[in-house]
Amino acid sequence: MNQYKVGIIGATGMVGQRFITLMDNHPWFQAVVLAASSRSAGKPYAEAVGAKWCMDTEIPEWAKNITVMDADADAEAIAEKVDFVFCAVDMPKEAIRELEYRYAKLECPVVSNNSAHRGTPDVPMVIPEINNDHIHIIEDQKKRLGTKRGFIAVKSNCSLQSYVPALSIIKERFGLNKVLVCTYQAISGAGKTFQTWPEMLDNVIPYIGGEEEKSEQEPMKIWGHMENGQIVNAQSPSVTAQCLRVPVSNGHMAAVFASFDQPVDFDEIKKMWAEFKGRPQELELPHAPKQFIHYFEEDNMPQTRLHRDLEGGMAISVGRLRKDSQYDMKFVCLSHNTLRGAAGGGVLLAELLCAEGYINQK
Ligand SMILES: NC(=O)c1ccc[n+]([C@@H]2O[C@H](COP(=O)([O-])OP(=O)(O)OC[C@H]3O[C@@H](n4cnc5c(N)ncnc54)[C@H](OP(=O)(O)O)[C@@H]3O)[C@@H](O)[C@H]2O)c1
Repeated sequence: MNQYKVGIIGATGMVGQRFITLMDNHPWFQAVVLAASSRSAGKPYAEAVGAKWCMDTEIPEWAKNITVMDADADAEAIAEKVDFVFCAVDMPKEAIRELEYRYAKLECPVVSNNSAHRGTPDVPMVIPEINNDHIHIIEDQKKRLGTKRGFIAVKSNCSLQSYVPALSIIKERFGLNKVLVCTYQAISGAGKTFQTWPEMLDNVIPYIGGEEEKSEQEPMKIWGHMENGQIVNAQSPSVTAQCLRVPVSNGHMAAVFASFDQPVDFDEIKKMWAEFKGRPQELELPHAPKQFIHYFEEDNMPQTRLHRDLEGGMAISVGRLRKDSQYDMKFVCLSHNTLRGAAGGGVLLAELLCAEGYINQK
């Protein structure tokens, strides 16, 4: 198989670095363009990323000498060279919105980790196992943009990558109506390490700007339906969230309380989680975890350090499912925020878009 030619916009950042490690030996994708701001442009990648490289593995040899391009000034040249781009940049929202539109209009599909277009009604926001059908809204988006192959597809926020899948699988069966969630989020979610954010050692910060709104609103789009060329948000369940930053390098944990219209059966729920297979598993996409939800019976599991890397950091770990005195049930869940929650989720979405014919080789 000829590999798809891929560009990584924001390649020097925390998520961009993850994309680079995931492109290493990817069976379908070959990164041929690495781009970032004008500060990095013109330098070999290894020099541009310098001491900011914070992955557990070395920079892959193939990436070290690629000359970094300017995501903005070189957009035409980049769009020409690649079949699609991943985008993960730290810029003002309006600037990201424009940059992503620009690539789409240059007929270059954009698979985005940014939040700028998550609210755009004809941009699908996809967890590939859960709402893969939303990708078909791309036809309507392309009509609006006047493009043949260019479009934007986004992945949702990292905070909700564990509890939304776990709840989605049982939502219809029991009639989910109310959710309360507290998240305990790793510092890599802010693009930081303990070296760059020493204040986080031995500390908890009870505020992550914008995160609670995303954690409450984004599930409604994921649970929404397509109507007249738009994704219409679901009206229920109601979701309330508190998001805390905790001294953990990688891995977002969530404590979830949920109520339902129907009586819940814990054995049935565990069976539904164990047996669940989504479209990525059916299609056997390269980054699809074989077992999407791993349930742990032990009271002290899942644990961040033990379980965040399950199935290449693409699986979700769940435990402590039990009765609650105010809600019908409660449980704890965990996902890797820069793998399943960011770059890995982006790669899986791109694999889905290729397999379903929305991204093709030029
Ligand atoms: N970290 C996570 O777990 C996570 C999870 C989900 C989503 N996200 C989202 O992913 C995006 C990136 O996050 P991050 O944590 O990787 O941020 P980061 O580590 O701060 O990296 C930011 C990247 O953006 C580039 N950039 C900054 N200004 C630019 C400009 N004007 N033009 C082009 N590129 C520019 C930087 O390039 P230079 O090196 O040249 O400055 C760098 O490559 C954000 O939208 C974030 O919300 C992050």
